[in-house]
Amino acid sequence: MTDTNKSATLSIGDKTYDLPILSPSAGPDVVDIRKLYGQADVFTYDPGFTSTASCDSSITYIDGEAGVLLHRGYPIDQLAGKSHFLEVCYLLLYGELPTAAQLEDFEKRVTNHTMVHEQMHRFFTGFRRDAHPMAVMTGVVGAMSAFYHDSTDISDPWHREVASIRLIAKMPTIAAMAYKYSIGQPFVYPRNDLDYASNFLRMCFSVPCEEYHVDPILARAMDRIFTLHADHEQNASTSTVRLASSSGANPFACIAAGIACLWGPSHGGANQACLEMLKEIGTPDRIPEFIARAKDKNDPFRLMGFGHRVYKNFDPRATVMKQSADEVLDLLGVENNPILATAKELEKQALADPYFAEKKLFPNVDFYSGIILEAMGFPTSMFTPIFALSRTVGWISQWKEMIEDPQMKIGRPRQLYTGPTQRDYVDVENR
Ligand code: CMC
Repeated sequence: MTDTNKSATLSIGDKTYDLPILSPSAGPDVVDIRKLYGQADVFTYDPGFTSTASCDSSITYIDGEAGVLLHRGYPIDQLAGKSHFLEVCYLLLYGELPTAAQLEDFEKRVTNHTMVHEQMHRFFTGFRRDAHPMAVMTGVVGAMSAFYHDSTDISDPWHREVASIRLIAKMPTIAAMAYKYSIGQPFVYPRNDLDYASNFLRMCFSVPCEEYHVDPILARAMDRIFTLHADHEQNASTSTVRLASSSGANPFACIAAGIACLWGPSHGGANQACLEMLKEIGTPDRIPEFIARAKDKNDPFRLMGFGHRVYKNFDPRATVMKQSADEVLDLLGVENNPILATAKELEKQALADPYFAEKKLFPNVDFYSGIILEAMGFPTSMFTPIFALSRTVGWISQWKEMIEDPQMKIGRPRQLYTGPTQRDYVDVENR
C-alpha cells in the first residue's frame, strides 16, 4: 500500500476535511477514513461492506469485473491445472511457491498431524446421528481449543505455526468423521502414506472389512475442488475469522466461528442448496418456471449458484469446475446425467435472459461443484463441510497475516443508531 499524495475532500457544512488516498498494488484506490471520526465527529455508513476495505492484505486478489482470481499473484486456473492443494496451502501461508525441499518438509509436517486426539472421538458420539455435519464440525473444531494447549498462544510464532499445521492436517479427518458418524459407520483413521485428497476419500468411503482403492483421477478432482476453494480474500467467513481473532481469541475457536458463518446458504451453504434446487427442477423443461420465480420480486427464491458480491463476470473457479464436472462424470461412466443436463441448460437460459445479464449474475463456484461431489458419492450435507476443509487454509493465512500486522486493532464497527433516545424507566404497574 502506498500513499498517493492524492486526497479526497469531504465537505460537511462549512468545514472541509482532506482524506488521504492510498494505492493498492492492484484494484481501486482506497480513501483512508481512519481519522475521520476524530476530526469531523461523523461515522461512515456501509452495511454489508459494499464499499469498505476492512484491512490490507497481500494474499488474494480478485478483479470481479474481469473475472480474475490470483493467489499471491498466481492465477487460479494455473494453480488448479498445474499445482496441487498442499502446494497452494504453502503459497497462501508463506507467500511464495515452495522449493522441492520446502514442499517435502511441509507435506511431512502436515502428514504428521492428521490424527485427532483420541478423546475427541467422544465429542462426535455426543451428537445426534442426524445432525448436519456442519453443526458437528463447528462444535468439534471449537472443541480443539480444549485439546491443543501447546498451540494457542497467538503471540508466539511457533504456536501460530503449529496451530496452522494442525488445522490443515486435521480438518479432513474431522470432516470424514462427521460423515462416518452420520451414516453409522466406524471412523477410519488417516493413512499417512496417501496424499491429502486420497486420504480424505479413503477416510470417507472405506470400511474396515474391505480393501479400498482410491482412484487417482477422482483424487485429482477432489484435490482440485480443495484448491478452487482455498481462499477468496475478505468474504463473510474470512471476515468472521478476522473479527473473532482480533480480540486475541483462541485460534481453533476462531476457525469454528468461520465454519459457522460459511454454513449459510448465501455463502458456502449454496453448494448444497444448488444441488437441491437442480434436483427440484428435475428436467430441463421446468427451467423457465424457476427462472420466472427467480425474477419475481414477490418470491424469495433465488437461483442458487448464481451471482456474487464481487464477480460481475464469470467466476473463474466455475469455469474450471465445469470442466472438472465433465471429466469426473465421464470417468465414472455417468452418461446423460439429468442433473448435469439441467445445470447446463439452466446456465444457458439464465445467461440469455436480460434480467441476469443486466444484474451481471453469472454461475459461481457452487454451481457445478455439487454435481461432481454427488457423482463421487457424497451426500449433499457433506458439500459445505468439504468447502470448510478447503477454506481452512485461507482462514488461517488471513488470521496469521492479521496477527503479524503491527497495526492490528480489535475490530469494532460503529453504528447508525435508530432506537429510542434516553427515557425514564416506568414501573410495571404503570405501563
Ligand atoms: N437469483 C436471482 N436474483 C439474484 C440472484 C440470484 N441468485 N443473486 C442476486 N440477485 C438479484 C437480487 O435480487 C438483486 O436484485 P435487485 O437489485 O433488483 O434488488 C440484485 O441481483 C443484487 O443482489 P444482492 O443480493 O444485492 O447482491 P449481493 O452482492 O448482496 O449478493 C449473493 C450476492 C451471492 C449473496 C447473491 O447473488 C445470492 O444470493 N446468490 C445465490 C446464493 C449463492 O449462490 N451463493 C454463493 C456465492 S459464491 C460462494 C461463496 O462465496 O460462498
